[in-house]
Amino acid sequence: MPNPITVTELYKMKRGREKIVALTAYDYPFAKILDESGVHIVLVGDSLGMVVQGGTSTLPVTMDEMIYHTRITARAVQNALVIGDMPFLSYQTSAEDAIYNAGRFLKEGGAAAVKIEGGAGVSHLIKAITQASIPVQAHIGLTPQSIHQMGGFKVQRDEARLLADAREVEEAGAFSVVLEGIPAPIAKKITESIAIPTIGIGAGPDCDGQILVLHDLLGLHDRHLPRFVKQYAKLGEQARAAVKAYAAEVCAGKFPDEKHCYS
Ligand code: KIV
Repeated sequence: MPNPITVTELYKMKRGREKIVALTAYDYPFAKILDESGVHIVLVGDSLGMVVQGGTSTLPVTMDEMIYHTRITARAVQNALVIGDMPFLSYQTSAEDAIYNAGRFLKEGGAAAVKIEGGAGVSHLIKAITQASIPVQAHIGLTPQSIHQMGGFKVQRDEARLLADAREVEEAGAFSVVLEGIPAPIAKKITESIAIPTIGIGAGPDCDGQILVLHDLLGLHDRHLPRFVKQYAKLGEQARAAVKAYAAEVCAGKFPDEKHCYS
């Protein structure tokens, strides 16, 4: 595996039927764990707004917040491809805004690529950003920045539209596409009909790769989890138990003990 992973390596992985492992991260310590565990793509997602900032949607996340989190994430990554997620209104307004803000992710954040939400409707922006030599990952299906337009976080089932979106973003120059909240048979068809790697989240097992939100996978919060999330740990419970044990020992005068004092 080349170091760090490039977008061309991801094409090779698709052609060689090697699965692409992607996860989100938002800070140095977790990004280091992901990078040392063989994750191929580290996405600094705007899911930041929900799992780190405690909001109910991704809409309020700002460019400056994304740049800060991308910088402290990228600093830890030696091997994976770091992708910065362009937040709401950082690209929809014009091609100029899209290029400028995408460039900030590379210049200030240390990312190697950006992700934008939308299909055919943003293909002109994908083209503009890639023409500025910035690799773009597209994101179609359930796109959380359009939650008000979609009427909530809903599975997207319009097969013809999804296939057309996938072809348009490929044609516009995207190096990969996230398929979110799409029935598995449609995601399989899309994956087979385009040359760029598909990364699924709630899109079944036949995508070229998979991504999850790290805090969902680790059980770091007690928010509602969508059906597609598999929790591999319950770190929130472990953290709570550790903090309670510490508090109890401080209150009882048991910590610090002799072992943790300077003589
Ligand atoms: O913001 C995010 O974390 C994402 C992934 C879940 C694909 O867009």
